[in-house]
Amino acid sequence: MQEIPLGFVAGTIIKRIDWAEHLFSLRVQAPSSAFPTPAYVAGQFSKLGALNEQNEWVRRAYSMVNKPCLNGDNLELEFLVIEIPDGKLTPLLGHKHVGDEVIVGTLPAGFMTINEVPQATQDLWMLSTGTGIGPFLALLEDIEACQRFEHLVLVHAVRTQEELVYKDAIIALMKAYQGKLRYVPIVSREVVSGALNGRIPQHIQAGTLEKAAHLPLSQQHSFLYLCGNPNMIRDTRDVLQQLGYKKHLRREAGQFSFENYW
Ligand SMILES: Cc1cc2nc3c(=O)[nH]c(=O)nc-3n(C[C@H](O)[C@H](O)[C@H](O)COP(=O)(O)OP(=O)(O)OC[C@H]3O[C@@H](n4cnc5c(N)ncnc54)[C@H](O)[C@@H]3O)c2cc1C
Ligand SMILES: NC(=O)c1ccc[n+]([C@@H]2O[C@H](COP(=O)([O-])OP(=O)(O)OC[C@H]3O[C@@H](n4cnc5c(N)ncnc54)[C@H](OP(=O)(O)O)[C@@H]3O)[C@@H](O)[C@H]2O)c1
Repeated sequence: MQEIPLGFVAGTIIKRIDWAEHLFSLRVQAPSSAFPTPAYVAGQFSKLGALNEQNEWVRRAYSMVNKPCLNGDNLELEFLVIEIPDGKLTPLLGHKHVGDEVIVGTLPAGFMTINEVPQATQDLWMLSTGTGIGPFLALLEDIEACQRFEHLVLVHAVRTQEELVYKDAIIALMKAYQGKLRYVPIVSREVVSGALNGRIPQHIQAGTLEKAAHLPLSQQHSFLYLCGNPNMIRDTRDVLQQLGYKKHLRREAGQFSFENYW
């Protein structure tokens, strides 16, 4: 094998879930000694890499879908990946199976964590498109850390129903949160019973997102995390700013923050 680049460690795929033709999860195990302690904070991202046909490493950022999980001397990290048809890495990952090796970045990073949410926040809204739901699932796994909120709203906007991933895990979380967690699926290219149709910014503007969540959005009580498609983030930011919400900065508290995936 080609020498592993600095800041990476060899990992083995221990589980693969195929949600749809181009959408899958990979659970990877890697020696925990290669990571800091704690290895990362729920909501952060690391990197995955694989060798291409030219025997060169291709590396990209991916959010962990799980909170840090130790299994003996190994760390288990789960990633949700959509295959970009002409992409450099995702088609390589798409061909990986249980037992195959990938490389994993050993320095996870990112600020979309519970600690970064202003203390005064009552309700945390997590708005995602596509694979952007991943870090929110990790946040929600940390039930103890999320107890400080009165309500949690997980919004997942996808093109088709089959892309509404991790449904069983979300149902289990809703039970564990005993009414605190609300889940609002949005499907844009199909009409699906139990899901909104359309896009996130449109539903904020029309008030239909609040209605579906059975919870009012307010500058005083709500904080919003946005994750995924940069166009969704731009359009949602515009709507929120029109409504008077401000981007959150460490030096000046606001009501929303985001992570662009590309
Ligand atoms: C902080 C961070 C976290 C990320 N976490 C995830 C994750 O958990 N899961 C995941 O699938 N991706 C995630 N990404 C995107 C990922 O890093 C890669 O960009 C993506 O997988 C495409 O890689 P590629 O080499 O196949 O495509 P490339 O050859 O790099 O082509 C990139 C082009 O594909 C498009 N693109 C990239 N990502 C997406 C996407 N998710 N949906 C639609 N179009 C896209 C853009 O037009 C981009 O310019 C994350 C990115 C960042 C910055
Ligand atoms: N999803 C698939 O069937 C599929 C299959 C094969 C490959 N891929 C590849 O995967 C990539 C990612 O697919 P994806 O479905 O996860 O991502 P996506 O294109 O980001 O779509 C996810 C959701 O975001 C919405 N969205 C897009 N732009 C928005 C905006 N400006 N404001 C608000 N919402 C917006 C989409 O609505 P709209 O539907 O209205 O755009 C959709 O509901 C694609 O670019 C493609 O290369 C996708």
